[in-house]
Amino acid sequence: MFDDIPQNRPFDAYQSFVLDCKLYWTRTIFPELRKRYAVAAGEDAPKTGAEVAQLMKDDTTAQFFGWYERHLQRMKYSGQHGLAVHYSQYREEIARALNADVPPRLLDIDPNFEQPVYYTNIDIHQHPGGVWSDEIAGYVYERGAQSTAPMLKKHATLWDRVKKQAMDRAQTEVKRVVDMGCGFGASTYPFYADHPDIDVIGLELSAPCLRLAAQRAAEAQAQNVLFKQADAMDTGLEEGSADIVTSTMVLHEMPPSHIKGVFKESHRLLAPGGLSIHLDFLVRDDAFKEYIHYGHSARNNEPFMVPLNQMDVIQAHKDAGFDEVEIVPFEEMDGALDPSMTAWRFPWTLIIARKAA
Ligand SMILES: C[S@@+](CC[C@H](N)C(=O)[O-])C[C@H]1O[C@@H](n2cnc3c(N)ncnc32)[C@H](O)[C@@H]1O
Repeated sequence: MFDDIPQNRPFDAYQSFVLDCKLYWTRTIFPELRKRYAVAAGEDAPKTGAEVAQLMKDDTTAQFFGWYERHLQRMKYSGQHGLAVHYSQYREEIARALNADVPPRLLDIDPNFEQPVYYTNIDIHQHPGGVWSDEIAGYVYERGAQSTAPMLKKHATLWDRVKKQAMDRAQTEVKRVVDMGCGFGASTYPFYADHPDIDVIGLELSAPCLRLAAQRAAEAQAQNVLFKQADAMDTGLEEGSADIVTSTMVLHEMPPSHIKGVFKESHRLLAPGGLSIHLDFLVRDDAFKEYIHYGHSARNNEPFMVPLNQMDVIQAHKDAGFDEVEIVPFEEMDGALDPSMTAWRFPWTLIIARKAA
């Protein structure tokens, strides 16, 4: 697939440069900023991210850190050899590959689907037009995801780890898994590829992402997955029909009313004893990390990261009908939770709940 897209050395060099800058930002600038913050804070450490922001607002390293974060992402997508700009030249070839026939059981796109307004209002993570409006957006997004968290050289291990956590924690026989906000299918893949006996459904708003997910599944000769266009809070799937409902990096892309709707829908979809497991970002009790995370939210066009972080997700689950809820730090790569880890990372967190048996 996508064999018609030629190699292009200036593009590869530019993208490697952006990625190396991001690694420098991650491994060198971030620890330096933290050190400078520790000195500036002294004994009387700020209690909130807003107080840290006030303390650090004139610090050159803090300003440089923010500038780098905002503009490296912009360069990655929209710069001279940005992903969106570069792949537009090969629009016809990419669209042809994405629209090639797949077995109909793999893909269910609704031609009359209406996107929620919050979704179309913003170019999420600075992707021009978001991940839904351009027919090649799924392909561009797949390329972009390779450097979102640059320490994860093999990004797939993140999704394998979520799948493992879900399967290990399931207390009932797993016959069906629903992956909400599946994007181009990377979070769905470990479920359907490693468990051919399980029926897997990936739900997503973006048709271009779903098309790529279905092509990848066809390539893998999967027999047990369906990629369906649906809003995660109103899936149209049968009540009590799933044993695991999961999402990876989706909650922070929606407003609190929608997040609460997703928890309710997760509860409705689950069979008794079923597992709800959402991977997202939560910062707890660390003013510096809150400052970094809220800054990222603003700089990367991800406005709902802040309200998600401020939400009482345990109470929201209880309101949705769950009694057992757990918030657990997530180790996205070996050693990520070790105190010796000084590089920047997302505050990865699993939000786990179980429907009463
Ligand atoms: C950061 S991506 C994560 C994709 C995938 N889960 C992964 O791990 O690669 C978030 C995805 O959530 C989708 N999304 C946002 N709001 C949604 C909603 N209400 N229902 C379904 N999908 C949604 C977006 O289109 C996007 O593809």
